[in-house]
Amino acid sequence: MKHITVPLAFVCVLAYVGSVQAECCRVNLTLRYIVGSGTCADAGGRRFSSSSCTVTVCADGRPLVGTYCGRGSCNIFGCNCDGGCIKGDWQQSFLNNNRRQNIRVVDATWSS
Ligand SMILES: *[C@@H]1O[C@H](CO)[C@@H](O)[C@H](O)[C@H]1NC(C)=O
Repeated sequence: MKHITVPLAFVCVLAYVGSVQAECCRVNLTLRYIVGSGTCADAGGRRFSSSSCTVTVCADGRPLVGTYCGRGSCNIFGCNCDGGCIKGDWQQSFLNNNRRQNIRVVDATWSS
């Protein structure tokens, strides 16, 4: 019995430590913006009101696809994503990506 129990306990400890240290990619940023030229969709968002648009982005400023901001798929908790989390400067990346549209961000809300 002991020969089975000890390695199993060891594996459990490793799994626990692994899950505590795992990087999670649950944070996203919802922006409300006004486009100087073009449409809401040109910047990846959709119309929010007659004058403003909204989009939820990951760190690279691109629209969040799926549920989490991992490069690849994540576990159900949004952690251990394949390739880690998407990196970038959030709102600044969004502005850089869509520079030609002369965007003005009027509201930014973090979710996690
Ligand atoms: C943003 O993150 C929150 C918290 O993890 C999540 O509930 C929400 O669904 C995410 N937004 C989108 C558009 O997926």
